[in-house]
Amino acid sequence: MDVFKAIQERREITKYSDKLIADDKLEKVVDAGYYAPTGNNLPSKHLIVVKQRDMLDKLSVTTPYMKWQKEAPAAIVVTANPSVSKYWLQDASIACAFIWLQAVEEGLGSAFGAVYHSEDEEESRKREQHVRDLLNIPEEQRIVAVLGIGYPKETPKPKKHVPRESIVSYEKF
Ligand SMILES: Cc1cc2nc3c(=O)[nH]c(=O)nc-3n(C[C@H](O)[C@H](O)[C@H](O)COP(=O)(O)O)c2cc1C
Repeated sequence: MDVFKAIQERREITKYSDKLIADDKLEKVVDAGYYAPTGNNLPSKHLIVVKQRDMLDKLSVTTPYMKWQKEAPAAIVVTANPSVSKYWLQDASIACAFIWLQAVEEGLGSAFGAVYHSEDEEESRKREQHVRDLLNIPEEQRIVAVLGIGYPKETPKPKKHVPRESIVSYEKF
């Protein structure tokens, strides 16, 4: 699949089939995050692969918006360390995007569970602490997202995009 096709086909997948993911496929998805670029080439990100069902179930209650993790057979938790790079949030976000696209390439789907909350530090710390305690994540890491990974159970309805001209302009805003 070419990259643009993966970009066009990518959707958030929140319903998963029972089919387990072969290790080599999952590792390729993880590698997409590993190879993603970082600001100043600094290693601020960390990826935690979770496959144990009881842990996936516990992750599903990190926020009210990741119930799909109860079904997804795997998760990649994306964290980053602000003391390593001022671009930690971008580094983690780009890794998330690469992971999401590689999932498409592998015939898998992914859902994005936002953990870090930039507007509400207290809420963010609470959500992050839940994941931190479960996965033994050091204090200096911020927990950006839990990405559910699995085989799609159904194809989402086609998506209506906002008009391109409201998003894209040329030469000036
Ligand atoms: C930064 C960001 C945060 C998101 N947070 C959540 C979330 O917490 N829970 C969830 O189910 N989906 C979340 N999503 C998924 C979006 O809601 C979804 O990608 C969007 O509605 C577009 O749908 P599509 O991915 O099918 O194109 C998030 C996506 C992004 C990029």
